[in-house]
Amino acid sequence: MTMWGMSRKPQKQEDLKDLWPGQSVELLKALHILTRDGALNADSRRKLKQVLHLVQLLRPALDRLFEEKESPRLADLGAGKSYLGFILYDLVFGPKGRGEVIAVEARGALMEGAKRLAEQSAFDRMRFVEGAIDTVTVDGKIDMVTALHACDTATDDAIRFALRHDARVVALVPCCQAEVARLLDGAARHPLHQLWRHPIQRREFASNLTNVIRGLYLEAHGYKIRVTELVGFEHTMKNELILAERHQRANAQAKGELVALLKQLPTRPALVADI
Ligand SMILES: C[S@@+](CC[C@H](N)C(=O)[O-])C[C@H]1O[C@@H](n2cnc3c(N)ncnc32)[C@H](O)[C@@H]1O
Repeated sequence: MTMWGMSRKPQKQEDLKDLWPGQSVELLKALHILTRDGALNADSRRKLKQVLHLVQLLRPALDRLFEEKESPRLADLGAGKSYLGFILYDLVFGPKGRGEVIAVEARGALMEGAKRLAEQSAFDRMRFVEGAIDTVTVDGKIDMVTALHACDTATDDAIRFALRHDARVVALVPCCQAEVARLLDGAARHPLHQLWRHPIQRREFASNLTNVIRGLYLEAHGYKIRVTELVGFEHTMKNELILAERHQRANAQAKGELVALLKQLPTRPALVADI
């Protein structure tokens, strides 16, 4: 029996072969990842694989936080329906019996729905905050920040939120990003302009550049970063995971690298306005 009072045994084993043992089937139904009779459709399977894989990648950092702190706090930003928060709670925070998951999302209706589901599930250490990531401040320290496919510059807002709340660990899977492509579009006379002349190449180059700048910015603020693939590209194109863990207050060398890179560009994104 689980905290849901239901069996964890999948009703349709063949549909659930990708699930971890111990996953609460009733939670997945409530999140509409599984149909009522326990089946998975292709979209849900993709989403679930991404989220479960992300949880696996976050495990070592989470385990360290749980070893070091009585009650680690994780903020999931741009949470949507809070899939990631619920699954993290069900697999990690719930079984540990301590710690808190805080979801932040601009759309109030999504937060209301998630709040109801958390109440029904007795996930009493989940909190839901309606608001924009760049203006929300959560009381107290946040140990870990996650932002899974937070749109465009919302990933940058997540980085600033992490710095504001002194988060030790930051996990970002950026979404579509328009800011840098838009800025490069106006820079046709720059010596490097061949890199972004064609719209499709501009989008790819800008996306890559945005994530390179995000990584360096985090390093300049004392984080060690690891950049990896989240899941195979057959599951999603938005597939880059930037996993950062703070080990010092600042890193002058990384800041120097970032400054040198920015000097070669015709423009700079808002994230690095203070560099
Ligand atoms: C593509 S969805 C991803 C949702 C969820 N993280 C997931 O992977 O299932 C992006 C979510 O971020 C929210 N969002 C975008 N910008 C935001 C901001 N600045 N502040 C708060 N939420 C934001 C959107 O409302 C949307 O629900």
